[in-house]
Amino acid sequence: MQPRHFLTLEDCSAEELLGILRRASELRRVHTEGTPHEPLRGRVLGMIFEKSSTRTRVSFEAGMTQLGGSAIFLSPRDTQLGRGEPIEDTARVLSRMVDVVMIRTAAHDNVTRFAAYSRVPVINGLTDDAHPCQLLADLQTYIEHRGDIRGRTVAWLGDGNNMCRSYIRAAQIFDFGLRIGCPAEYAPQDSGIDGERIQVVADPVEAVRDADLVVTDVWASMGFEDEQQQRLDAFRPYQVNAALMAHAADDAAFMHCLPAHRDEEVTAEVLEGPQSLVWDEAENRLHAQKALLEFLLLGE
Ligand code: CP
Ligand code: NVA
Repeated sequence: MQPRHFLTLEDCSAEELLGILRRASELRRVHTEGTPHEPLRGRVLGMIFEKSSTRTRVSFEAGMTQLGGSAIFLSPRDTQLGRGEPIEDTARVLSRMVDVVMIRTAAHDNVTRFAAYSRVPVINGLTDDAHPCQLLADLQTYIEHRGDIRGRTVAWLGDGNNMCRSYIRAAQIFDFGLRIGCPAEYAPQDSGIDGERIQVVADPVEAVRDADLVVTDVWASMGFEDEQQQRLDAFRPYQVNAALMAHAADDAAFMHCLPAHRDEEVTAEVLEGPQSLVWDEAENRLHAQKALLEFLLLGE
């Protein structure tokens, strides 16, 4: 039987994703109560990181341990991947030894090639195209704090990057409106932008007007650091600050996948303010991914 993979949100149906999100909230409660829950005893997660990480690494590693399993951290510096062993060979070997693989890499093609040769589920831990695990945590957090996201309006401010593209997928699947406030040259190239439910607007105020959720991310993602200065200039009008938040709905929430650059894409005031859900959002990486691991490995 072909394993289930999680390379983009579209690898699951809306119903399956909602089930994962419900389970994530349950697992948050179980964890908070201190109740042991170890359905993955003896299972091993291999984690390939070709880019830096704090949240993704720690949440997957802690999550596997809490579920009774274990995780192995693999970087190109100390595996043969870094010396040119093909992805297809690595996939065939690793997937005979571990039960599930998570990959963080630049080219999305790397995860699809790995998955094509893997006997076990493969999870996208971030590529230049998508960050679906973060969207699970974001959606869980929004639903826990504000209820159903269907029919709501989300404003994305800044770069049309991997996170933005995953928000486009999420808007299609979960049926919410998405206004992307972005300079034209950094707008996401994505067929999901239909000009109705999902729009790109140049004016940041228009993007956030009456929005229920305002989201941003760094202006220079990993791998784009060389463009830092030109991006600072281009994105400055899209900073999420108190003046911009004032145009959103009164009870609008603010989210950021972190790491955040204070006083670049978001002011410290907004990041640390009462509308910000960023710390619960970060914590939910743990619970959402535990629910995802249960879904992929146990079919629950
Ligand atoms: N948000 C997120 O994926 O964080 P890390 O880069 O620290 O994993
Ligand atoms: N867009 C950011 C997300 C980091 C979690 C990046 O790719 O660097």
